[in-house]
Amino acid sequence: MDRTVIAIDGPSASGKSTVARLLAERLGYRFLDSGAMYRAFALLARRRGVAGDDEEGLAELVPEARIELRGERVLLDGEDVSGEIRTPEIDRLVSQVARVPAVRRGMVARQRAAYPGEPLVVEGRDIGSVVFPDARVKVFLDASPEERARRRARESHRDVRNVLEEQRERDERDSRRAHSPLVKAAGAVVIDTTGLTLEEVVERLLALTRDALRSRPGEPSTGSSSS
Ligand code: CDP
Repeated sequence: MDRTVIAIDGPSASGKSTVARLLAERLGYRFLDSGAMYRAFALLARRRGVAGDDEEGLAELVPEARIELRGERVLLDGEDVSGEIRTPEIDRLVSQVARVPAVRRGMVARQRAAYPGEPLVVEGRDIGSVVFPDARVKVFLDASPEERARRRARESHRDVRNVLEEQRERDERDSRRAHSPLVKAAGAVVIDTTGLTLEEVVERLLALTRDALRSRPGEPSTGSSSS
């Protein structure tokens, strides 16, 4: 089915979530936070006592993972776990479970099936490359590691050095895994958000989207900020 999908990928704390949410709001599109799905799955694994390196155990959990995204809220088996999936413990576990191919297959299927037919803004690591390779607009948001760590430390009231260290480990796991690593998708426009305000980033994305919607369906968008 042909529908408008805006794919926003990038490393942790590059501003994806906030920017993607705002963009979806401005466009009147649905918003899908794919990372929240992996986080909810990591929480399920922790609750069931399945370790991050137990591939078989994790694969067995996939069919029973009942994860729903409802706007800002994330439900696991009907329970609101929106706060619980954002702890440092889940930060550490999530990139381990996200390496497992069976987990990725399960989450990707859920992402594709969410909001059938509706226009979407989706954010994650592999959205433009794997989940929605035909997305009308593909963006890779980036920022320097220091800037990203500062943002995350501010949000979570943690020490910036600890955040930087954990972020380095997670970036490395996400970028080096064999299955759907974090990469800039073919045709993605790179936006480095270091030093840009949220509003400036959203404006760039809105301009890219308008461009893409004006061009003929099927044609890739041509972003002036491409690099
Ligand atoms: O909020 P933050 O950017 O730190 O992370 P997130 O978007 O909530 O994603 C958490 C983790 O889920 C990432 O570090 C990846 O390991 C995994 N993930 C993934 O593998 N593929 C996606 N499409 C989204 C997230």
